Amino acid sequence: MTLQAIKWNREDGKLEILDQTLLPATTSYIQIKGVKDGWNAINKMQVRGAPAIAIVGSLSVAVEILQHPNYEDKKALFQAIKDNMNYLVTARPTAVNMKVAANFFTELTNLLSLSDKLTLSQMKDKFIDNVDNMLMDDIRYNKVIGEYGADEILCNVPEGSSVRVLTHCNTGSLATAGYGTALGVIRSLHKKGRLEHVYCTETRPYNQGARLTAYELVHDKIPATLICDDMVAALMKTKQITAVVVGADRIAENGDTANKIGTYQIAILAKYHDVPFYVAASLTSKDSNMSNGDQIVIEERPEREMTHMNDKRIAAEGITCWNPAFDVTPASLITGIITNFGVSKPSDGSDFVL
Ligand code: MRU
Repeated sequence: MTLQAIKWNREDGKLEILDQTLLPATTSYIQIKGVKDGWNAINKMQVRGAPAIAIVGSLSVAVEILQHPNYEDKKALFQAIKDNMNYLVTARPTAVNMKVAANFFTELTNLLSLSDKLTLSQMKDKFIDNVDNMLMDDIRYNKVIGEYGADEILCNVPEGSSVRVLTHCNTGSLATAGYGTALGVIRSLHKKGRLEHVYCTETRPYNQGARLTAYELVHDKIPATLICDDMVAALMKTKQITAVVVGADRIAENGDTANKIGTYQIAILAKYHDVPFYVAASLTSKDSNMSNGDQIVIEERPEREMTHMNDKRIAAEGITCWNPAFDVTPASLITGIITNFGVSKPSDGSDFVL
């Protein structure tokens, strides 16, 4: 059985997502009936992970369009798609993927609206075809990333030996249309029979590692161990980690990368312990408008994610909290960025081209 975070049936226009706030205890799908539901699900992190956010956001626009068949003309349809896409961008600010999708669909539907050859209904179909393609494209990209990443990690170890990898947050089937980015690299290493062990961090405060990555690893029977976020230095000192591989929410032009809070400190520890540090992401995570990571807006989440575990308060009453959801790892700490186009090396400063 494959893990499916997003269920989309084009025939009846039905979109359901696995509610990730309830995992691993409860497997429950919720229906997304339009853009408002899409925005809420992204904002409340019922769906999360940069690629999944963009896919569910775009699909929620498709649902909205299918439910409102009476647009006056193609211009009105274009305006509705543009407005809805831009609204969804506001649900979470750091991951670039929803913005990339919004730009792509705005440009595409603008062109479609100007074409004399297309009727309103054909324009609608073409938009939905393209949203549909996002799901298949994402899985395809992830499998390619998995292969490139596995080859890159294996080329630095003796022939036939197996590797021990550390990952952070959740970058797997739950964060994408399927297979995953960093977790896709881990899946590919496992498939090749070259993964000795994977360690995943708990990823406080939202616990994507303990709840979601651990769930995927157990599901796939990949040999894995969970560690707390503050055990990374000890792990690197004692367990001979071959490489770190993490995902990305936004990659600036110079290779600085925003990812889940805690990524930056893992990269620093990797440098100190001489462990190669890789970012794995599809090119849809690149932001050509940002020259470096200082320009990336970091989302700050509610204090409650830190002070409570489920509904139980674990922090002392009266304490204030700072809860940034992401941090930026400078390119100089990144050994390689693994994309669906290959591996780029930002840390040598010379040939970083994405
Ligand atoms: O806050 P989240 O759970 O959406 O953060 C997710 C991450 O930081 C992932 O590493 C990133 O989105 C890549 S998912 C393929």
